[in-house]
Amino acid sequence: MRQPAQTAGSTPDALDVQSVRADFPILSRTVHGKPLVYLDNGASTQKPQAVIDAVRRFYEHDYANIHRAVHELSQAATEAYENARRTVQRFLRAESEQEIVFVRGTTEGINLVAGSWGRANLGPGDEVLITAMEHHSNIVPWQMLCAERGARLVVAPMDQTGALIWPEFEKRLNSRTKLLGVVHVSNALGTVNPVRRMADAAHAVGARVLVDGAQAVAHAQVDVNALGADFYVFSGHKIFGPTGVGVLWGKADLLEAMPPWQGGGDMIRSVSFEKTEYAPAPAKFEAGTPHIAGGIGLAAALDYVTALGLPAIAAWEHELVRYAHERLAEIPGLRFIGTAPRKAAVVSFVLDGIHATDAGMILDQEGIAVRAGHHCAEPVMRFFGVPGTIRASFAFYNTRDEVDALVAGVRKVQKLFA
Ligand code: ALA
Repeated sequence: MRQPAQTAGSTPDALDVQSVRADFPILSRTVHGKPLVYLDNGASTQKPQAVIDAVRRFYEHDYANIHRAVHELSQAATEAYENARRTVQRFLRAESEQEIVFVRGTTEGINLVAGSWGRANLGPGDEVLITAMEHHSNIVPWQMLCAERGARLVVAPMDQTGALIWPEFEKRLNSRTKLLGVVHVSNALGTVNPVRRMADAAHAVGARVLVDGAQAVAHAQVDVNALGADFYVFSGHKIFGPTGVGVLWGKADLLEAMPPWQGGGDMIRSVSFEKTEYAPAPAKFEAGTPHIAGGIGLAAALDYVTALGLPAIAAWEHELVRYAHERLAEIPGLRFIGTAPRKAAVVSFVLDGIHATDAGMILDQEGIAVRAGHHCAEPVMRFFGVPGTIRASFAFYNTRDEVDALVAGVRKVQKLFA
């Protein structure tokens, strides 16, 4: 397997970006006759050859269902899938592979916690605390749960930079708070939340803490225990792995005490018409045939990222965000949305008199892929009084030249609307 390129040192130049780009076949294609400038990594990331090869090798060589048969292929597939679970465990610095539940993605992970832990632990008058910068996945499942259980959804506000207002957050914590659901890195703004401090404050009132890591895991080393989380969720496709697979990490004792979420094969110890006994976690939460190839591809992606080194990735992306802010700030009529002191991988902005979607379509003609719209975070847009933003979201394979292309593209958009 080709190892990703890296040179020694921990400066922003530690990544050999051009060499890394060669690992991603799609990055060499053109769009509308222009070189692709892919700046939509917050929505989904591209796949390195190592991931494509791992999935392909599995289907070509080892494919069968898992946990079910004694034949050679089933054994090989089971081993590959369970090895993938161990890779995730190491990646998150989790204590045990029993704490790693494979799910469809971040959204399913949050719904699982709401549907299982939430139903078992929330009653009338209880509160779920979230922040004003959550995206829909970390709002709607809690709204549904609160409606069902007679509980209340409470929202901690942010300031005009898109940073959490600490005293307001603290004010909303009390003995009724049963769960804090917080995004690690905001998808629309790039704000990095002070998760450890928030988790300590939530634990002090007896609440549990779920961290939505969808926009975080690809950008900085995550240690779920050091973060103080009780649950951590992320999606494979946002960290260079396949779609349709993701991870829920939960503390072993919590998972063990939680009732199953879906019933079916693979989540049972024994079944009769009178009584079913459930398997222990994580199998208890993995009813039916899972996305086996997805889990294997995700492990290949995590190996790839680990070999590259998350400190080097974080340093390079930090430089890209800094450079993008500096260059875009030169453009008259451009306003940044999300300027919190701690940011990761996202630059969001609006242009005077130009709808974000129109700008996105014109940028596309230049080969530049950005997301334009509400980013599945309508309350965030409402707070800033805009229908949507233009969002450039970075990965380690992006370059300063691509930032320059974005700046040139934005100027072209403005000219067309002048
Ligand atoms: N949550 C994803 C995004 O930010 C889809 O684009």
